[in-house]
Amino acid sequence: MAKWGGENLVEPKDYLPVYDDDKPFDPRPFLQHGKYQMFFGGNYFADKLPPSSCWLVWDKDNTGNFADCELVWTNLPKAVRRIIYRWNGLLQQDMKHKEYRYHPTQKPVPVMKWCILQAGEILTMADPFMGSGTTLVAAKSLNRYSIGIEIEEKYCEIAAKRCSQEVMELDCEPVKKEVLSQSNRMEL
Ligand SMILES: C[S@@+](CC[C@H](N)C(=O)[O-])C[C@H]1O[C@@H](n2cnc3c(N)ncnc32)[C@H](O)[C@@H]1O
Repeated sequence: MAKWGGENLVEPKDYLPVYDDDKPFDPRPFLQHGKYQMFFGGNYFADKLPPSSCWLVWDKDNTGNFADCELVWTNLPKAVRRIIYRWNGLLQQDMKHKEYRYHPTQKPVPVMKWCILQAGEILTMADPFMGSGTTLVAAKSLNRYSIGIEIEEKYCEIAAKRCSQEVMELDCEPVKKEVLSQSNRMEL
């Protein structure tokens, strides 16, 4: 909920249900899949994750009562990286192209694109908790393949619609299949 000095700026949005967000998450069954993995909110279950040199830090340029940053655990073989991208209730980094909020924990497309690019020339990615489909929209805009799984059917419909609406961006070189070694692909 958007707050300023403890006061609500707007009525909370009536989002669709989000399953199991209130329960502890165990990432361990997912660690065996694919070459690289990323977990948003990894700081909440860091005791179940291997040590990592590369956490991704999304600085939300926040004010008020929200967390300053989101932490993404990764197994990327590199150092910590940070992006500053405002996502503060009604305020977004790019107000001219403000993103519609479909999901209470929706991520900005540019942040998700940045995360994908941190993994290099990965051709295919899977998001087993895709929500409104931001990972898929970001992957599509980078000319990558993606697979999304979501328990709430309405979010699946939203994700499909978002993917069909997004226009391919021309500022990114398509990943060339021939330069990708088999070991560099992320597979289910
Ligand atoms: C943190 S949200 C993802 C938000 C997404 N990154 C976005 O930008 O919209 C996690 C999603 O996982 C879904 N979910 C929870 N348990 C699930 C399960 N067992 N299988 C598939 N989806 C599940 C929830 O309904 C929720 O939409």
